[in-house]
Amino acid sequence: MDARPFRRPVVSPAMDLVELEQRARTLLAPTAYDYIAGGADDERTLADNAAAWGRVRLRPRVLRDVALVDSSTTVLGTPVSLPVLVAPMAYHRLVHDEGEEATAAGTAAAGTVLVASTLATTSLEDVAAAAPGSPQWFQLYVHRDRGFTAELVARAGQAGYRALVLTVDLPVLGYRPRDERNRFTLPEGMVMANVGRSTEATDGSAIALYAAGELDPSLTPADVGWLRGLTTLPVLVKGVLRADDARTCVDEGAAGIVVSNHGGRQLDSAVAGADALPEVVDAVAGRAEVLVDGGVRRGTDVVKALAMGARAVLLGRPVLWALATGGADGVTALLGGMREEVVRAMALCGCPTVADVGPDLLSFPPGRP
Ligand code: FNR
Ligand code: LAC
Repeated sequence: MDARPFRRPVVSPAMDLVELEQRARTLLAPTAYDYIAGGADDERTLADNAAAWGRVRLRPRVLRDVALVDSSTTVLGTPVSLPVLVAPMAYHRLVHDEGEEATAAGTAAAGTVLVASTLATTSLEDVAAAAPGSPQWFQLYVHRDRGFTAELVARAGQAGYRALVLTVDLPVLGYRPRDERNRFTLPEGMVMANVGRSTEATDGSAIALYAAGELDPSLTPADVGWLRGLTTLPVLVKGVLRADDARTCVDEGAAGIVVSNHGGRQLDSAVAGADALPEVVDAVAGRAEVLVDGGVRRGTDVVKALAMGARAVLLGRPVLWALATGGADGVTALLGGMREEVVRAMALCGCPTVADVGPDLLSFPPGRP
């Protein structure tokens, strides 16, 4: 993608992510669609994630010369063309034959970072090889088998990943009614490539069974330190929603915090990312970079997140809808569309660079009445 700053006017249409999801839905098995689209319990948090961004209001600046607007930034030292990374998500082959390799290529072409999931349907080495020279991060689920987990960390280092994202909001899987009803399982022949096996069929959700059997529910802050001792890569902790937890993680050496409720798929009624962000930014106080995800769907949402102190956001489900409908090119087009929306929102807020986006753009500091 052209990495030069955009010139005004930005004339591309806004994205229609609702239509994108509908198109993807027609192409997918209903069980796959439900797994991706769904959330935990009554899906309250799932709905609130997007709604919370909608509650934030902006105070645009005028007369600031936005003839040139540049959406590029860095995240833990990694340059990106826009402050939007691709969230770690399991099982990309559910939606497209080329799976994570297509997502990796499409994300690299857009000039940003894919966070590859431990539970990918493509090995982490093959994901890395699909975007040679482009920065990628690896998301880690700590398995009960710590030897296996340490091997994953070593493999990620050897394959050239630039950071590890330790997900901590999944001591057990949230209850996901759609997957229980559908008896969600990976289709015949599809495997969790890093683990080297598929899910086992059960009378409910096979992924809930996998999580219960294999993932370690006993993590404590000391495990952040344990992970740091295994690698020279920076460690981010994903799934933090509170000031005290964020502080603890940074004390244990985390270089980044991802404020996240896992896209509303874990604890239903958990606070939305946008609502939790201010207290985490305050608590971290610049000692680590703060990222946020959940319900980010517009360039204005991205600008709000930055104004609230996030370094960048992660984008989840829309990437899988784009992969389903358009493969690698679909992912590139989605991220390109998001970049144009970010540029337009920055121009309308009077911000020529990401560094110009600050808390004065918020009509009130959310979370602080
Ligand atoms: C996820 N998410 C996730 N997170 C993680 O740390 N490891 C994982 O393997 C997965 N897998 C996964 C699969 C699917 C289908 C979805 C939708 C989500 C959570 C993900 O990283 C992110 O936190 C949310 O998806 C962000 O919210 P939005 O953008 O989807 O609203
Ligand atoms: C999910 C797990 C795999 O949310 O993170 O489905």
